[in-house]
This record gives sequence, structure tokens and C-alpha cells, in this order.
Amino acid sequence: LSDRRVLIAGNWKMHGSLAAADAFAYRLGEHLADRAAPAELLVCPPATLLERLGSKLRPLKVGLGAQDCHAKPSGAFTGDIAAPMLPELGCRYVIVGHSERRQLHGEDDATVRAKAEAALAAGLTPIVCVGETEAQRESGAAESVVGTQLEGSLPSAGMLVVAYEPVWAIGTGKNATQADIAGMHGFLRRRLGERGTVTRILYGGSVKPQNAGEILGTSDVDGVLVGGASLQADDFWAIAAAAPAR
Ligand code: PGA
Repeated sequence: LSDRRVLIAGNWKMHGSLAAADAFAYRLGEHLADRAAPAELLVCPPATLLERLGSKLRPLKVGLGAQDCHAKPSGAFTGDIAAPMLPELGCRYVIVGHSERRQLHGEDDATVRAKAEAALAAGLTPIVCVGETEAQRESGAAESVVGTQLEGSLPSAGMLVVAYEPVWAIGTGKNATQADIAGMHGFLRRRLGERGTVTRILYGGSVKPQNAGEILGTSDVDGVLVGGASLQADDFWAIAAAAPAR
């Protein structure tokens, strides 16, 4: 299991300021002065904060990631950010196919796959997100939906991370049961087993300090992707502290 180090990833979404980034890094640094990181730590702030937060997180050995990238390496795409621009700022990861991008920006599996491929080509590790809606889960289609997303969104080769985030659990305070998480992660593990590389599978959706221990203790969960609770360094740290030793 040592090659599947627990990954605690924060997704700040469209939140944060220079002051908030500085305060976050300062507080995280205080925790890390007391205790070595219990897991691999990663923060994905908005693009505007990558450089500033990255410069503060680097000495702490906390990773930096972006929240999205374009599939093309450059071009006339106003407002977009290309994958090769990200390592320059210190990024090692990029989230692709988050449900908010899929739903609000109309990204389909082919687009997500193209972005993941662009990330790999730029030397980044893509965190590819999948997850079913509440209606899909209620109709018993969760596994088939997620299986289809996985098949369509993953590049055929390359080191990546998969994040399972049931859409109905994101930002809602609703949690999947431990049995549901174990079931889906087991399903993903079997599917990913056909790949040659080791793939970590994160769970995401209303992960908080109070439920992190149970979620991180669930079989086939290699870490968490945390939205709201990653904005405060104390909460982010409390979630990381719940990681089991591997
Ligand atoms: P949440 O978001 O923790 O605020 O539910 C998770 C995510 O969307 O990555």
C-alpha cells in the first residue's frame, strides 16, 4: 500500500483572496511545525492565487494544483489556461471534469479526457472527477453512470488520480454512507486494476473534520477531495490528521 500514499486535496473553487491565501499558509505552517504531515497535502486554489499560495506552500512541502486546464497547449481561447502554463507556477496536479465543470460548462467525457491528456503531456497528474446525480443513484444507475464516465474520461495510459464525488453530496452536507462509498470505490478499483499504473481513488462531497476519519478508514479510499472545509487551515489540517498511517 505504500505506493498509495493518502492524498488530502483541497479544492477552493471560486473562493479566496491574497489575504486568505497568506493566512491559510501561515496557519498550516504552524501545524506543520508541530507535527509532520500525516499524508500528502495538496491545495488547488483559483488560478489568481496559484503563484502566491504556491510560493508559501513550497517551503512547507505542500503541493499545489489547478482546478481546470484547456485541452490545447495554446491558442485563441480567451479566459482559458493551458496545461503547460501550470508547472511554471509550481503546479503538479490539475483537477479535470469536476461536476461543476461538467454541469455548468457543459464538459462531456471526451472533453475531460482531452484535458487529462493535455495535463499528462505537460507533466501534471490529472485528478479526474466522476460521480452520479441523486436521480441516477435513486434509479440504481450509479455504477453504470460512473463506469461510463470513467471509460470516456480517462486517458488510456499515464499516472493519474480519480476522484469519486457523488454530485448530490457536494456542498450539501449530505454524505454517502460508508457502504455506498466502499461499494463505489471497490467498483472503481476493479475497473482501474486493468491499467498498468497505480491509481489513487479519492472520495469527495461534504468531507469535514467530523466525518473524515470514517471516510478515510473506508476500504479503497486513498484520500479525499475537500471543497468548503479546505478553506480554513484548521479544518483542512483536522481532516489530514484523520488519515490512517500507511
Ligand atoms: P464540498 O466540495 O467538500 O464543499 O462538498 C467537494 C468538491 O466539490 O470537490
